[in-house]
Amino acid sequence: MPLLKEHISLKPFNTFGINAYARWFIELQSIEQAVEFVTDNHYQNQEMYIIGGGSNVLITQNFEGVVVKNSIHGKRIVKETESHIWLKVGAGENWHKLVLHCLENDWGGIENLSLIPGNVGAAPIQNIGAYGVEVKEVFECLEAIHLATGNIHVFHSEDCKFGYRDSIFKHEAKGKYLITSVTFKLTRKDHQLNTSYAPVAKAFEESGESPSIQKISKKIVEIRSSKLPDPKVIGNAGSFFKNPVVSKEEFEIVQEMYERVPNYPAGDGKVKLAAGWLIEKCGWKGQRFGEYGVHSKQALVLVNHGDASGKKILELSERIQKSVKNHFGIQLEREVNIL
Ligand code: FAD
Ligand code: EPU
Repeated sequence: MPLLKEHISLKPFNTFGINAYARWFIELQSIEQAVEFVTDNHYQNQEMYIIGGGSNVLITQNFEGVVVKNSIHGKRIVKETESHIWLKVGAGENWHKLVLHCLENDWGGIENLSLIPGNVGAAPIQNIGAYGVEVKEVFECLEAIHLATGNIHVFHSEDCKFGYRDSIFKHEAKGKYLITSVTFKLTRKDHQLNTSYAPVAKAFEESGESPSIQKISKKIVEIRSSKLPDPKVIGNAGSFFKNPVVSKEEFEIVQEMYERVPNYPAGDGKVKLAAGWLIEKCGWKGQRFGEYGVHSKQALVLVNHGDASGKKILELSERIQKSVKNHFGIQLEREVNIL
């Protein structure tokens, strides 16, 4: 088993760049190591927190338990037909490198999810999504170790209860499993191209190019880079809140205040609003409070300008939630995980 380290700064392991400490820290590189670790009596009573790329977590305090860095690598085709391949990928693989690997091989399905930070193991946890596609659309199954017993469980799509930025791993299975691999079903031909998201459609209209999976990825990388801060330059965890899904009546209240409110149908007569727009309308966009603040190009992203504490960023998020509630009567729900 790899060495258990003591008193480790988590700063290099979270994209917010928060400098908090873990009492214990271990990096696991294989399923065997992971099973051995979780079934070792010595650690069974310790609190554990699993971390992948650390791009969807805000660390608000030192952690007295064991932080487990999942670095299980590997990619393997487990099944293929003329039209599809099933690719099993280690949870510790970098997500965007996987996207690039698929583009090189002309495998379609995850091109719209280009440049999302983090690792493969976390992708099903919040059912990552962007530019009209969610990972559930290419998800076949995942393997996970049950932390309490060390048993390996397989979760198929229906077991995961995927929703918008949601899955079973944010509810009843939260903190109970270590995901070791995810298997994706990807197209080898007749790719289902999705250019429905307005900025992507506009980019193709303007350039006059016909879309391919590689070109869609390129356009999305350009769009994302123009508004989302690069965590290597400025600490952040992407969207801090989910876009709220509201009733028709709640929507009409906002529309009475602002005729041109961006909105998207969300099924059952409900409407999805853009949290970034709501936050901007409350005057938060680009606000800076010393070491932390709200990104100037995308109000849904809270940022660490240097050495902010996670507690301060959490407090800011609560002030934003209150202000959106007071102004619009809408409760924003956090997307980011809090440690
Ligand atoms: P981490 O932050 O390490 O972990 C997230 C959660 O999953 C934690 O609760 C952790 O305990 C748990 N976890 C991680 N790995 C495992 C595992 N192997 N087994 C069990 N539990 C585990 N997300 C989107 O959906 N769409 C976007 O467009 C998007 N854009 C982003 C842009 C930026 C600039 C940033 C910084 C983030 C963005 N995100 C986006 C959020 C983030 O990239 C995703 O949520 C990503 O899947 C997180 O992966 P990670 O490995 O960094 O997870
Ligand atoms: N908007 C504003 N002001 C802002 C930000 C946005 O008015 O400061 C408006 C935009 O003009 C647009 C609408 O809000 O009309 C939507 O904005 P955008 O296309 O930037 O997307 P988003 O809804 O803010 C969501 C996801 C992102 C994902 C993009 C693209 C959530 C919580 N966020 O953002 O995911 O990349 O769409 O699909 O659903 C993440 O989850 O971390 C993340 C970055």
